[in-house]
Amino acid sequence: MSKNPKQMKNLLVTGGCGFIGTNFIRYLLESDVFRGRIINVDKLTYAGNPENLAEIAERFTGRYVFEKVDICNFSDLENVFERHDIDSICHFAAESHVDRSIVGPGAFIQTNILGTFNLLELSRARADRLALFHHVSTDEVFGSLGASGYFTEQTPYRPNSPYSASKAASDHLVRAYHKTYGLRVTISNCSNNYGPYQFPEKLIPLMILNALAGKRLPVYGDGENVRDWLYVTDHCRAIWKVMECGQTGETYNIGGANEIPNIEVVEMVCDILDELEPGPGSGRRALIRFVTDRPGHDRRYAIDFSKARDTLGWQPQESFASGLKKTVQWYLDQRRWVQRIQSGEYQRWIAMQYNP
Ligand code: NAD
Ligand code: DAU
Repeated sequence: MSKNPKQMKNLLVTGGCGFIGTNFIRYLLESDVFRGRIINVDKLTYAGNPENLAEIAERFTGRYVFEKVDICNFSDLENVFERHDIDSICHFAAESHVDRSIVGPGAFIQTNILGTFNLLELSRARADRLALFHHVSTDEVFGSLGASGYFTEQTPYRPNSPYSASKAASDHLVRAYHKTYGLRVTISNCSNNYGPYQFPEKLIPLMILNALAGKRLPVYGDGENVRDWLYVTDHCRAIWKVMECGQTGETYNIGGANEIPNIEVVEMVCDILDELEPGPGSGRRALIRFVTDRPGHDRRYAIDFSKARDTLGWQPQESFASGLKKTVQWYLDQRRWVQRIQSGEYQRWIAMQYNP
């Protein structure tokens, strides 16, 4: 079953005030790949910041609308669907941080599973008019790899954290709505993103800000866990490729071909900071501390993205060295954003529960 991208006129983006959602909305509007209207629905949890898109709202008046709505609230969501005549969806909204899911899984079950269910039900009710429901998911649904091998679209699901289990459940619901009701859906499962606007609880921005402040850099376990890093704009391009050209009912793995052990990532961050903003003493690597491991910590992720490459013509463009340097520079330049996001209920989340 194919979809018609021309019908994507009123695109609902959920979680657009978060890290990837912000970058995605900027990409769609600034690169002009999408000509319709974007309706950004976000609950504004600790991770959502509408200021990320304040300038976009001014520049793209009439083409960008923000609605502060919780996707767990069915009637509020229904109201948005009706008022904006939603004909397509790109679903990012989620609780996204693994450490938080270990400490408090409830919000993950609510938003990631029940919130997705609400969106699917509203989509089913207008299936005749819905061009596409794209679901943004993670490689963590596949569990952990050993020293070799890659996640493909055929890898069985084996999630290990409450976060990844909740994302796996949402993936299954999306797939089931396609199989059972014929809803036009696509799913992408992506590896670790990094870049501007990432909330500083995740490894890279946490290390940048702690190192700048002369605080310890907590590396879980032996630091040899491997992640496959992808610059966020490359992910945004991939999502749009899937939405425009992907086959309905299919899933696409997206990755960076960039496997790096955590300790090396942290050392690179230290060295870039020492170069861009030299600090006192012998260098930031001295701040690194090996701390108690994350419970159930997945050892290695690595993505085989040959399906996206061969069928959609997508591949990553940014190298890790240049992408990381741009990212560090962004955090150095955006002191006000950093200061604002660190105020209020925010705390830099260094898994204090396991490392008091
Ligand atoms: P994020 O935590 O930075 O942003 C999540 C956004 O969702 C926030 O703006 C938040 O306010 C909003 N939100 C949360 N609960 C909501 C609710 N109930 N109703 C409406 N809005 C709500 O997350 P992110 O890193 O940008 O990730 C976005 C999506 O991409 C998630 O679905 C995540 O699973 C997936 N993903 C992330 C990565 C990554 O490396 N960050 C990789 C692969 C997939
Ligand atoms: O793989 C995709 C996933 O990547 C996304 O689905 C998640 O939303 C996103 O949060 C990310 O999950 P990770 O758990 O891999 O990301 P995080 O930045 O939390 O951690 C990256 C690695 O660094 C992981 O092996 C744990 C380790 N780590 C993390 C933190 C926060 C540390 O060693 N110290 C830390 O303080």
